[in-house]
Amino acid sequence: MGAGDLNGAAPPGLAPHEVIRLTGAGVEMLDQTLLPAREETLVCPAWPQVVEAIRRLSIRGAPAIGVAGAMGVALAAARADASDLPGLRAEVGRAAAALRSARPTAVNLAWAVDRMCAVADAHPGPGDALVAALAAAARAVHDDEVARCRAIGAHALPLMGRGARIMTICNAGALATGGYGTALGVVRSAHAADPSVRVVVPETRPLLQGSRLTAWELARDGIPHTLITDSMVAAMMAAGAVSHVVVGADRIAANGDAANKIGTYGMAVLAREHGIPVIVAAPTTTVDLSTPGGRDIPIEERAAAEVRGLSLFGRPGSADTTPVANPAFDVTPARLISAIVTEAGVHRPPYERSLRAAVEDSAAV
Ligand code: MRU
Repeated sequence: MGAGDLNGAAPPGLAPHEVIRLTGAGVEMLDQTLLPAREETLVCPAWPQVVEAIRRLSIRGAPAIGVAGAMGVALAAARADASDLPGLRAEVGRAAAALRSARPTAVNLAWAVDRMCAVADAHPGPGDALVAALAAAARAVHDDEVARCRAIGAHALPLMGRGARIMTICNAGALATGGYGTALGVVRSAHAADPSVRVVVPETRPLLQGSRLTAWELARDGIPHTLITDSMVAAMMAAGAVSHVVVGADRIAANGDAANKIGTYGMAVLAREHGIPVIVAAPTTTVDLSTPGGRDIPIEERAAAEVRGLSLFGRPGSADTTPVANPAFDVTPARLISAIVTEAGVHRPPYERSLRAAVEDSAAV
């Protein structure tokens, strides 16, 4: 059934437990490296496999790697050899340090792992009660991220108008958040209210999160979309095929500068030229008040093989000695962002004050 058949109800999307879950077998996740060809579950029986799954992008997207990190910490406690509380805490600390540094740019990972460490530090024990408390805390991180996405979708709805033609980048959908999505959450809520909504999906080189993941999610929900190459973005805007740019974020600095998938900055510059609003949809767990501006955000540099990897006509797309640059993210300055939508509502420039208030309010809950 297409979402348009749902008579205004929100389209289903992937259920949160289909994206990632903590079970007796370990941390289980839909392996995103295999999509769209195969839908297979990857089981991580212990925390080092969770670190590896985050690094190799079996699970990816800022909120989703936070959820994975939290579940990895809970798994470390559940699998720990130590029987006494100090030994258990030490094992949790070792796992937390490795999980926290599995990827550098998305602040949600550090946020979620730190939150788990705070639970471990504050817990009086005994050990089995701490194991149960960490499992509950990890599941709460997951549930809360999905709830934040739904609130973001609702807050952004008035910004979309009728007949929106939304361009996004990468995948900021259910796969990237553990359920519903940020940018794709906005798409989902807009499409549920207005079935004429269309989505333009750049493939998102080098790892094709747009063509592999976003197009797969949209097709699953029956949301009309068109796949383009990244180099078509300007031409699509010039042709009038885009009314809004809606993207996620990996880290939003205190001043509103936003790091997201490489290519977002260029898209925002082009949107400004064409008078198209750029909306960043992200939960407050993506806002890092301790990072003053975009230049302070660490940008992950990934392996050269990812850029060289594309093969055409059955042959490699480049010589394997060609020097390569592969920054996974770029920073869009706040001046190019029309609105940031968090679960607290729609933030307009200048962002600093209202982002700070939203983060402080969410921390107080
Ligand atoms: O390298 P990835 O696939 O983890 O990059 C993901 C993105 O850039 C997303 O847009 C971002 O994490 C927001 S996800 C809601």
